Amino acid sequence: MTGKQTLLQNLPADLDIKRLPRHIAVIMDGNGRWAKRQGLPRIIGHHRGVDTLKNLLRCCRDWGIQALTAYAFSTENWGRPSEEVDFLLTLFERVLHQELQEMILENVRIQFVGNLLALPRSLQSEIQRAMEATALNQGIRFTVATNYGGRQEIIQACQAIAREVQSGRLQPEEITEALFADHLYTAGVCDPDLLIRTSGEMRLSNFLLWQMAYGELYVTETLWPDFDRQSLYQALVDYQHRERRFGRV
Ligand code: FPP
Repeated sequence: MTGKQTLLQNLPADLDIKRLPRHIAVIMDGNGRWAKRQGLPRIIGHHRGVDTLKNLLRCCRDWGIQALTAYAFSTENWGRPSEEVDFLLTLFERVLHQELQEMILENVRIQFVGNLLALPRSLQSEIQRAMEATALNQGIRFTVATNYGGRQEIIQACQAIAREVQSGRLQPEEITEALFADHLYTAGVCDPDLLIRTSGEMRLSNFLLWQMAYGELYVTETLWPDFDRQSLYQALVDYQHRERRFGRV
């Protein structure tokens, strides 16, 4: 184990510290199926999903991952039964309220991305409070995508850029990939190196469409509530066996 490796809490010795992803994104799928398999209501699956997310955030921090982004609620999720939508949004608000002190103590910087103005006002206030209270934290950067859609994110970036061109502040030739990325919700956060999706589905589901241009995908059959440290370790072992070429030979 290298000197730096011993500083990280229990990073498995066979993981190469120099080849860890800087940024991991997760599609937390399978809460409902997990609950069904146990004969429990879906909402219990979401409760367990929150515990899984908290544990994953801690594990990423312990192992030196700099950023974690979680897909909590997509623009398509409004199509679920209204009781489940209400339950999820209330759950986010309650968890944020309960966990804020802990996040401050643990030096987590939390931010939310998505169309936040369409969320209930009380949730918006809780989000604002959490983002402001952790804005100067230097530890892991934790992004929660809520009412997020990748296409919508790209369209709002186009609109913002178009307005700058229209006003004469920007020339069309000045639109570069970097400038475009600066107009996305995720401006300032590096692109994910690894996207983990649980419960077997092999698609992006409108998540981080621009940012995942060269990110590695890892899909596991494990349902989200069962995704633990060992599951993350397996994803990282798999990731470290990949050869990332970014379009080169
Ligand atoms: C997908 O499982 C899960 C969700 C739509 C919700 C995920 C949210 C959390 C785990 C809570 C996050 C909490 C905070 C505070 C950010 P599913 O319902 O689609 O499961 P299924 O595919 O088996 O039906």
